[in-house]
Amino acid sequence: MTQVSMRVDGVSYTDEVEPRTLLVHHLREALGKVGTVVGCDTSNCGACTVHLDGQAVKSCTVFAVQADGAEVTTIEGIGSQGDLHPVQKAFHEMHGLQCGFCTPGMIMASIDLLKENPNPSETEVREGIEGNLCRCTGYQNIVRAVQQAAGEMSGSSDTLGAQA
Ligand code: FES
Ligand code: FES
Repeated sequence: MTQVSMRVDGVSYTDEVEPRTLLVHHLREALGKVGTVVGCDTSNCGACTVHLDGQAVKSCTVFAVQADGAEVTTIEGIGSQGDLHPVQKAFHEMHGLQCGFCTPGMIMASIDLLKENPNPSETEVREGIEGNLCRCTGYQNIVRAVQQAAGEMSGSSDTLGAQA
């Protein structure tokens, strides 16, 4: 076992983990962060996406020991029920989810995308979230949600209209 310390959603944790433990399993099973989900375990679907020191990563591709000393943000750390993150709000308003299984990862990837590119075109949104798979929606409403969030975060309300 190896001792790892990390801050997750603003709280510091120190735990003993096996070197082979994946970050996603550590988050869910040791820390109770079940908002981060496992869709494939083979780095294909993106459902497990979290931010590691501010960058989106698939947490099934990272060992917990690799996050030692890091700042981790999960879907549970970006907003609350009464105070949603603009990307969460836009997914809700634009019907960017159906079953919602992919949604935590989509939202975490989208926040990272908007940090890099605050006003992405439709193509740039599609490219930005290409590592995240949704088996339900056909992506159209997800893309619209990301663009609505971009408009809201940049203070403009006509992002969608400008690109329609
Ligand atoms: S569970 Fe990590 S990419 Fe699918
Ligand atoms: S809403 Fe069902 S997988 Fe994305």
